[in-house]
Amino acid sequence: MFESRPLAGSKADVYRELLAQARGLLADEPDRVALAANFAALVYHALPELNWAGFYFFDGVELVVGPFQGKPACVRIALGRGVCGTAAVTRRTQLVADVHAFPGHIACDAASRSEIVVPLFAGDRLIGVWDVDSPVVERFDHEDQTGMEALCREFMQALYPQLREMAA
Ligand code: SME
Repeated sequence: MFESRPLAGSKADVYRELLAQARGLLADEPDRVALAANFAALVYHALPELNWAGFYFFDGVELVVGPFQGKPACVRIALGRGVCGTAAVTRRTQLVADVHAFPGHIACDAASRSEIVVPLFAGDRLIGVWDVDSPVVERFDHEDQTGMEALCREFMQALYPQLREMAA
């Protein structure tokens, strides 16, 4: 059985440990829902001060909510809308210190005060976004961005093993 627990130590240590856990948890499984559900659960329970962690996947038109941990969320987000839609269109991680200051932020859970959204691309193809929210203002910094992006690379390489060969 996989032991899911809050991780302690410096941020760098926590993300290193989390990456190792993700690698083990995601190994040898091709199903997207299975991978995404376990990934969301792993991160949500390992990191402090989160109120939502999960995926929105691109259905060819817009972003549709996928596996997550937290309260029920908005189902569909148009490209370019909110923090998620902005990450998808700009192809850049969005680090939002205060969601109240982000124009067009979509408030799914009124408790959310800061968030980080990492776009997920397979080459040029938009797959979706990874979205993590916190009830604490300025919860995420550049170390979180580096850590989340490394975790997302691991997720994408588990889902698309050919990406691992391309990165090698
Ligand atoms: N915060 C997102 C909406 C999704 S929920 O936070 C789960 C946004 O503005 O894109």
